[in-house]
Amino acid sequence: MSHNNTIDLSGQSAIVTGSGRGLGLAFAQALARAGAGVVINDVDAEAAQQAVDSITAEGGRAVAEVVAVGSADAADRLVARAVETYGRLDLMCTNAGVLRDRVLWNMSDEEFDLVTQTHLRGTFTCARAAVRQMRAQGHGGRIVLVSSISGQRGKFGQGNYAAAKGGIAAMARTWATECARAGITVNAIVPVAMTQMVATIPVFAPFAKGVARGEPLPPSLRQGLGLGMPEDVAPLLLFLASSQAAHITGQCIGIGGDKLSLWSQPTEVRVAYRDGGWDAESIARTWAQGVGQQLEPFGDDIKLPE
Ligand SMILES: NC(=O)c1ccc[n+]([C@@H]2O[C@H](COP(=O)([O-])OP(=O)(O)OC[C@H]3O[C@@H](n4cnc5c(N)ncnc54)[C@H](O)[C@@H]3O)[C@@H](O)[C@H]2O)c1
Repeated sequence: MSHNNTIDLSGQSAIVTGSGRGLGLAFAQALARAGAGVVINDVDAEAAQQAVDSITAEGGRAVAEVVAVGSADAADRLVARAVETYGRLDLMCTNAGVLRDRVLWNMSDEEFDLVTQTHLRGTFTCARAAVRQMRAQGHGGRIVLVSSISGQRGKFGQGNYAAAKGGIAAMARTWATECARAGITVNAIVPVAMTQMVATIPVFAPFAKGVARGEPLPPSLRQGLGLGMPEDVAPLLLFLASSQAAHITGQCIGIGGDKLSLWSQPTEVRVAYRDGGWDAESIARTWAQGVGQQLEPFGDDIKLPE
């Protein structure tokens, strides 16, 4: 397997959840090409085995652990597998995910719970198990979470997913403070890529068909929407895994197609003070000229570039 020229992860070990296909597969392949031993995880046993085969065929190191992330038990199994196989754990990437889009009034408890169990609880349990192992090893580590634009801005039909992905951004900003002393960085990637998950969004269906025929995504999507392929996202994970990113923590970093970006921490955009505090009337009197003079946008409508 040809090692990445600049980033060498030889001797390191990584877990990527949901790495049977899509972004997770591209993450795992990129880590293996840089020399890391990888634990592939997925609920789909066949996809997980194909992912392992794609890596070992190139001379890389990979094993599969088929389990649904979410529970503490699943997370412990993944970390144990990495340690048994490679003797250590250096990176945990919590990528596994599902969508169950539905407007609030039609969303079932099951749809809410599956999405939050996989993304939010899965991120918590996997990061916790990994950080316990990394703290015991005593030489730092990397936790890379996967958030989403939906979690930064909200998106029609994605109350469950936006809550989970917003929570994941908040957890990155929180755990970064907690893990700093142990030399463990915690960041969140905010990706955009043409995967099976995105192909289900109606506006992207024609482009997904083009990709399936082997056509590249047009520059209008790569630049305009920052939408590319999973392979366009994977280099950010490699960078975060590298020693060059040892000081980067608590960040939400966007990547997709030709675009790389840094998300701001939510912040107060306008502030007013009133001696003794505010009552409803004083808020109403000053609202339109004061803090409410321009309201914030909400929701993320995808508009295809002309
Ligand atoms: N593709 C994008 O543009 C995009 C944008 C923002 C965020 N994301 C996030 O990136 C991650 C990967 O998404 P993708 O687009 O590659 O999706 P995908 O559907 O192609 O791949 C997700 C993988 O996770 C697996 N999976 C689902 N539930 C699991 C579980 N409980 N345990 C283990 N594996 C499980 C699936 O079997 C699948 O192989 C997700 O967290 C997703 O929310 C993707």
